[in-house]
Amino acid sequence: MKIAVITGASSGMGKAFTKQIDEKYQELDEIWVIARKKEGLEGLKKEISKLRILPMDLTDRQALEEFSTLLKREKPCIQILVESAGMGIQKKIEDTAVDDLRRMTELNCTALTAFVAMCLPYCEKGSRILCLASGAAFVPQPSFAVYAASKSYVLSFARALGAEQKGRIVVTAVCPGPVDTPFLEKMGGKENMPFYKKPFIADAEAVVKKALKDSERGREISVYGFAMKALRAVCKIVPIRLLMRFM
Ligand SMILES: NC(=O)c1ccc[n+]([C@@H]2O[C@H](COP(=O)([O-])OP(=O)(O)OC[C@H]3O[C@@H](n4cnc5c(N)ncnc54)[C@H](OP(=O)(O)O)[C@@H]3O)[C@@H](O)[C@H]2O)c1
Repeated sequence: MKIAVITGASSGMGKAFTKQIDEKYQELDEIWVIARKKEGLEGLKKEISKLRILPMDLTDRQALEEFSTLLKREKPCIQILVESAGMGIQKKIEDTAVDDLRRMTELNCTALTAFVAMCLPYCEKGSRILCLASGAAFVPQPSFAVYAASKSYVLSFARALGAEQKGRIVVTAVCPGPVDTPFLEKMGGKENMPFYKKPFIADAEAVVKKALKDSERGREISVYGFAMKALRAVCKIVPIRLLMRFM
């Protein structure tokens, strides 16, 4: 059975990935979609028939164990894995509850790593993995410190995994700037974003379209839009302490 697995599919870019993958890769037998809110996933059923709805909290070890058992039972061939589940909190570390900091690293780093490792034996030559990092991965960001650090982890992890799997699996780290999804609302809304980020808010469908194209081309990083490409180039040459002053 050929499948795609998409985490964070109930919303934003995960939802856009699910729809575009369904349209683009007709040969798939099923698309397995994962998030905590069942109703968010159920909503996709109106448009996509071959969905398997798997509500789960990716930070729950028991849920991951159950997913591992499901894989062992069904032995699917995972052709595309999209790791889109993620969360962000934009506050100084001293103003953030320790549990919130822990939840962020658990979801963005620990759960993502465990999930990819669990899926890897079910991928085959030609399979593709897309990990949602962020433009925040390029530079440390005061007041967004743990989120940016967690996304640097994702970027580094995805690149190293891609090197380990060279010739077998393409791994693409997707690194957009701000994208117009519910994520922005959870961070306080577009109106409260730093002024320098507002002009660069991207459309989720366009970011996802480019990410899928970059993955097909075997690219290890997908950066949407001129502004983020320029930021990436600047981050390679300007000293980090100067960039952080601007941030
Ligand atoms: N939007 C942006 O500006 C932006 C920019 C760069 C990178 N990113 C990254 O892109 C990815 C997708 O973001 P988005 O903008 O699409 O955000 P979003 O609309 O908030 O979607 C996040 C998804 O993650 C799921 N999720 C959250 N906690 C979970 C948990 N514990 N277990 C399972 N699923 C969980 C959510 O579903 P439930 O709530 O139903 O669990 C939702 O489906 C994230 O990794 C984010 O960090 C976003």
